[in-house]
Amino acid sequence: MSSEPATQQRAALRPDLRIPAHIGVIMDGNGRWAKARGKPRTEGHVAGVRALRGIVESCINYGVGYLTVFSFSSENWTRPKDEISFIFQLLRRFVASDLEKLHRNNVRVKIIGSRDGLEDSLRRLIAEVEATTAVNTGLKLQVAFNYGGKAEIAEAVRRIASQVAAGRLKPEDITEETIGRALSTAGMPDPDLIIRTSGEQRFSNFLLWQSAYAELVFVEENWPDFDAASFLRVLEDYSSRDRRYGGVEAQQR
Ligand code: IPE
Ligand code: IPE
Ligand code: MG
Repeated sequence: MSSEPATQQRAALRPDLRIPAHIGVIMDGNGRWAKARGKPRTEGHVAGVRALRGIVESCINYGVGYLTVFSFSSENWTRPKDEISFIFQLLRRFVASDLEKLHRNNVRVKIIGSRDGLEDSLRRLIAEVEATTAVNTGLKLQVAFNYGGKAEIAEAVRRIASQVAAGRLKPEDITEETIGRALSTAGMPDPDLIIRTSGEQRFSNFLLWQSAYAELVFVEENWPDFDAASFLRVLEDYSSRDRRYGGVEAQQR
């Protein structure tokens, strides 16, 4: 992973690029990548982890503040048991192999999503990763694991409702900020850019509340093929967008 001077070099080379503060990635197409090569789906997930390392490195190089990657959805439990346990195993292996390097590169890691259905040993591992990297001030990497946007909103509503029931909060005081603070992304900026690979054009329950004004970029490549050049193309596309937020074009303001 690159050092500070490399970041500055890259930024100096492409001053035209607008760098999103927060990028969300729906890493899709591992299975199709493997199938196209006559390999089992599991090989696609292994290749997907390599692509993940690449995008983390790119985000460090370009000075992206927050990166949230969708790695296992609450709906992915409907997959064959073997595939699920392989993906879980892969998360453990990723932590074992990459934690030290992430820490060295000043990356703060957080796992968002439900802890329900996760084994105690996995919960402990998640707690360890978060605690080890908690002091880091560089890239904030959120891994959305066992995550679903609707479930996250339902959980936030339950928490807010219990505050109301306990008399600590008045219904009329509930604002968008109250809801934002009750989500797993509390304290983070909303994603500016959501990337989905493999040609699919849907959210599949990813960061539903937070993506209200995200720019969406859909790329045809399967996730394992998404590399630094793909990332740069996405940044160029993003940089050309006129983000109006319901207003008028930037030049007419
Ligand atoms: C994304 O790749 C990884 C996960 C959802 C865990 P897929 O496994 O969905 O790959 P495709 O969409 O079947 O090709
Ligand atoms: C979304 O991909 C979830 C992840 C990338 C982890 P899916 O492959 O599960 O989404 P659908 O089923 O095509 O909508
Ligand atoms: Mg898929």
